[in-house]
Amino acid sequence: MIRTHTCGELTLKEKGKKVVLCGWIASRRDHGDIIFMDIRDKYGITQIVFDPEKNKDAHMEAHELRNEYCVKITGLISPRPADTVNKKIPTGEVEVEVERIDIFSKSDTPPFEVRDDIDVSEEMRLKYRYLDLRRSSMQRKLTVKHKAYKFVSDFLDQEGFISVETPMLTKSTPEGARDYLVPSRLHEGSFYALPQSPQIFKQLLMVSGAEKYFQIVRCFRDEDLRADRQPEFTQLDMEMSFVEEEDIWDVCERLFQGLFKKVLEIDIPTPFPRMDYEEAVTRYGSDKPDTRFDVLLNDLTEDVAGSDFKIFKDIASSGGKIMALAAPGYGSSSRKEIDDLTSFVSDYGAKGLAYFKVEENEITSAITKFFSPELLETFRSKTGARPGDMIFMVADSKEVACNALGALRLLIGKKKNLVDDKKFNFLWVVNFPLFKYDKENKRWASEHHPFTSFRAEDKALIENNEPGKVRSLSYDLVLNGSEIGSGSIRIHDREIQKKIFDILGLTEEEYKNKFGFLLEAFNYGPPPHGGVAFGLDRLVALFTNDSSIREVIPFPKTQKGTCLLTDAPSKVDDEQLRELGIRLRKNKDKG
Ligand code: AMO
Repeated sequence: MIRTHTCGELTLKEKGKKVVLCGWIASRRDHGDIIFMDIRDKYGITQIVFDPEKNKDAHMEAHELRNEYCVKITGLISPRPADTVNKKIPTGEVEVEVERIDIFSKSDTPPFEVRDDIDVSEEMRLKYRYLDLRRSSMQRKLTVKHKAYKFVSDFLDQEGFISVETPMLTKSTPEGARDYLVPSRLHEGSFYALPQSPQIFKQLLMVSGAEKYFQIVRCFRDEDLRADRQPEFTQLDMEMSFVEEEDIWDVCERLFQGLFKKVLEIDIPTPFPRMDYEEAVTRYGSDKPDTRFDVLLNDLTEDVAGSDFKIFKDIASSGGKIMALAAPGYGSSSRKEIDDLTSFVSDYGAKGLAYFKVEENEITSAITKFFSPELLETFRSKTGARPGDMIFMVADSKEVACNALGALRLLIGKKKNLVDDKKFNFLWVVNFPLFKYDKENKRWASEHHPFTSFRAEDKALIENNEPGKVRSLSYDLVLNGSEIGSGSIRIHDREIQKKIFDILGLTEEEYKNKFGFLLEAFNYGPPPHGGVAFGLDRLVALFTNDSSIREVIPFPKTQKGTCLLTDAPSKVDDEQLRELGIRLRKNKDKG
């Protein structure tokens, strides 16, 4: 070994020993003749000293060293004077008196200092990601991710799962995003798609008899990016044969219980709570409810249907909903604050925000005259509002009213510090509808994906063409309001699968072209099966307390899908395009 120790391990125990350390010069302090430096590697920092009285040559050479030079130093461990001991780091009691320096490589002045508490733009960090990753906080994140992957692999191995790879150059599976396409040189004019997920392949593996599959796998989706979405991200993908929902939930719950114990040393109780999709939407205004605080939505539609307030009456009679919540401590909101909240909910499509101030003995509002005292009391009792609170209401289609108040709920939770960030609230959201109506294209679309099975008792609804009412056998795993996973029991009956494609408006030619190979496989004894996939980046970001998954992806893309380090995506040579039989033309839509 080139070195005898790492930079994170020397203590007084090694006093007087000769050691060799390798790493980067992290900082330098000239104290008259004596020069102090910190040397850093992945494991920590050690102070090194150049004292001309003790070693003239090393001291001379020290003048040459700059931050981020990669060096080897040889020297003697000595105790630091008592008043310079640094209790904050494990090596803080000692320093190395340098006898010899070997420079492996020099460094230009780095664009930012390589230390944890830097104030530098994300663009800069991404452009020089290798320097950014050199910081110990980033090294820790890489390690947390690795430990999580290792735990998952070991746990699933013990449970009898095997990891199987699936193709990256493939035909895509619909997961709701656009595909990244890869042109084929050998088959000019044809394209592979990068997988949005290994969905169909894992189902084929069940047909193959693999029974318990998992894979930590890259997925690619061309979609609008956000803090929790990247164009390429990592899933823990799982599939099992001969199982029902409970079997899948059980193994996942034990997996997460073990993982949280391992990574965060936290005990997570199992089984995880389950909540119907319908309850999630109508009580929390979201299919991924944050259950860490209980400001809840209330349906007042029936109560206000008979009131004198025309807007509410009209919406109630046209099938819409009047939803309300009690905002704690918002009773004293100023006009401007209410206007801001109104504008906030309008971003979610709400056309207005009604509000009622709850006082000790009365409820006041610009529109109280339209409601009887009994009805106002119902508002109070149903929402659980207390003096000092404000009752907010949105009247609209169910979707808009619930969505808008759901977003307002989260805002209130944040503003009033109602969320206990020490809590880890897992929740299975179940009984999703199988289909959602795509108003724009005037057709039914899958809520999850087209391979999702449904409740046996809802089969008649499929046959009678009432897709809107069918409840699926799908489930999402939600943690603190973030969707970390999603899965379902799959259809394993060829005829039913065809019927679903039918409802989705795919012609026989279309589904044969897209999924013919799956239907073909279903001719050969497919077992009942189901599975789930978890967004590992989202999970690790929760472990490291980061609000963006870019923090835990070593080389992420920006919000615009670019890689600032390599400059991808980039133009390619004409010759490469010619080989692929591709000629570029201006996209008319983009002008
Ligand atoms: P789904 O599309 O819901 O299901 O994806 C599963 C989980 O992957 C994570 N995820 C993402 N993470 C980061 N960036 C993205 N762009 C992104 N998109 C999704 C989320 C999500 O819950 N094949 C099905 C699973 C199955 O049915 O077994 C699937 O991929 O945490």
